Amino acid sequence: MQHWVYGYGSLIWRADFPYHDRCRAVVQGWCRRFWQGSHDHRGTPNAPGRVVTLVAQPGAACVGVAYRVDETVFAHLDHREKNGYERCDVAMRLADGGVVQGVTYVAPARNPAYLGPASLDDIAAQIMRSGGPSGSNTDYLLELDSALARLDTEDDHVRSLATRVAAAP
Ligand code: SIN
Repeated sequence: MQHWVYGYGSLIWRADFPYHDRCRAVVQGWCRRFWQGSHDHRGTPNAPGRVVTLVAQPGAACVGVAYRVDETVFAHLDHREKNGYERCDVAMRLADGGVVQGVTYVAPARNPAYLGPASLDDIAAQIMRSGGPSGSNTDYLLELDSALARLDTEDDHVRSLATRVAAAP
């Protein structure tokens, strides 16, 4: 059986799994925020980085990427997203205008690694000092910002953080 998986963070540019289709996709009612702590990719348990999760926000739309994958891919994704993310059913509008049901990984506020909101300056500072097994937290932010530009979109939250990081001495 095949499924659609929606990616809005590193899944946009780091697809380390096989897939049948990939296209731009939009989900309604969610926004992307650097509110999740990363202990296993862009930080460590003692010095967590910050990565994105989806936060419910009526009227918002979040641009990302949809992948059509075989069921077997979930074993890999569940492991990759094990630090607080849960599978969540979501409707996504694909580049051709069609709407499909699929799955995305959301890190809810109840998970132990959740950090929640902070000022953009504080989030940028935490990103700049963090790194983990998957690389620096700054690279994660800048890769995400570039990937969104390639999707012909701009996310104010991500752009504001990338601007701060780029301006840092
Ligand atoms: C993730 O998939 O949650 C993080 C992967 C990465 O940091 O590259």
